[in-house]
Amino acid sequence: MSKKSMSPEILVEKFDPLKESDEEWKRFHEYRRKKHMEVNPNDPVSSDASVKNSVQQNVQNPEFGIHLLSIIDKKTNKQVGDALQGLILEASPSYEGTKHLIQFDIFLLSSYRRKGIGSRLLKQVYDFAIEHNKTLLVTDSSDEDGKAFLKAIGAQVALSGVDNRLQLSDVDWDMIESWAKEGPKRSAGTILDIVQKIPDEILEEYCKVYTEVTNQQPLGELDVGAIVFTPDSYRTMEEMFEKMNRTWITIIAKEPNGKISGLTEMRYNPERKTMISQILTGVQQDYRGRGIGKWLKAAMLLYVREKYPEINIVTTGNATTNKPMLSINDRLGFKVHKETVNAQITVDQLTNYFNSL
Ligand SMILES: CC(C)(COP(=O)(O)OP(=O)(O)OC[C@H]1O[C@@H](n2cnc3c(N)ncnc32)[C@H](O)[C@@H]1OP(=O)(O)O)[C@@H](O)C(=O)NCCC(=O)NCCS
Repeated sequence: MSKKSMSPEILVEKFDPLKESDEEWKRFHEYRRKKHMEVNPNDPVSSDASVKNSVQQNVQNPEFGIHLLSIIDKKTNKQVGDALQGLILEASPSYEGTKHLIQFDIFLLSSYRRKGIGSRLLKQVYDFAIEHNKTLLVTDSSDEDGKAFLKAIGAQVALSGVDNRLQLSDVDWDMIESWAKEGPKRSAGTILDIVQKIPDEILEEYCKVYTEVTNQQPLGELDVGAIVFTPDSYRTMEEMFEKMNRTWITIIAKEPNGKISGLTEMRYNPERKTMISQILTGVQQDYRGRGIGKWLKAAMLLYVREKYPEINIVTTGNATTNKPMLSINDRLGFKVHKETVNAQITVDQLTNYFNSL
């Protein structure tokens, strides 16, 4: 039997989170729960109301345009996949460095794979990229089928990474406490501030440091320019997370002269109450080698243990080339959960791929 005749009849529909009816949301939630069971079955599942709110907040981001597609099996009228096409908007301070690309993500429930549906969706993403005058498509995957698909279409693996997880019950708390005690000894005069909103008086300086540290992370071969944060764009992100009912905890290291020397941040979604995400940790170049990175990480873990006793897993993502961060994370006890790739392919390469089919 040819691949085509085996293939279920599929409908690709636009999904507009601000306009969909209750029935369409019901179909979406049924699908995203199945997707959750395939991707991370042991993780907590968020409620329908909270997911709907998050998706609605995401598509209202004034700096990043998100266009969603639902993949429907015509016979059962069930959703079996989804796709995201994202593009930076002119309002974003990162527009210059990223205006040439489309970010995309395609997912199919496993029984709908290897039937040519992924390639059909990719063609739609490609048409979307051309329509918006983009030259590059970027995506990421931690799924073996997804990685094989990206290889087959000729995408370049531009950055390899790991989704790391730390089980708090495995943590050597004596070591963490000793890192926290060593910090102020090795870096005399430095103080740590724990905040859930960056104070107005330091926001401008904080955004400069945050931009610098963000762009110091290894990006491998990814053809992506500078990511820039301004006080306005930072407040926009804070407001978005607040509307999603998430908590954004930041610890800022400050020097006796008032300068910010480092930071670490975690984000918490109370719907997934046993897990928390470690985001960026960075120490300014001039202040490295004084134990501030370890002190920040230790202070954050001690804070999380005290304030959120239900949390037992910290998740984070690291590039495999990020040796300093991996060295700290290894000592903390982080273990590889999944291996990830960030991949890219140009519109021209995709033209050749589709012409060769
Ligand atoms: C990526 C994904 C959408 C592909 O969908 P799909 O419908 O299975 O893809 P196609 O059937 O169109 O496959 C196209 C080609 O990719 C290659 N390919 C896809 N999956 C493969 C696998 N598991 N092993 C080897 N090759 C594979 C094959 O060459 C295939 O052509 P062929 O079947 O004629 O040999 C699907 O694997 C998925 O949902 N993965 C999880 C999400 C993800 O990681 N997405 C990647 C980032 S967008």
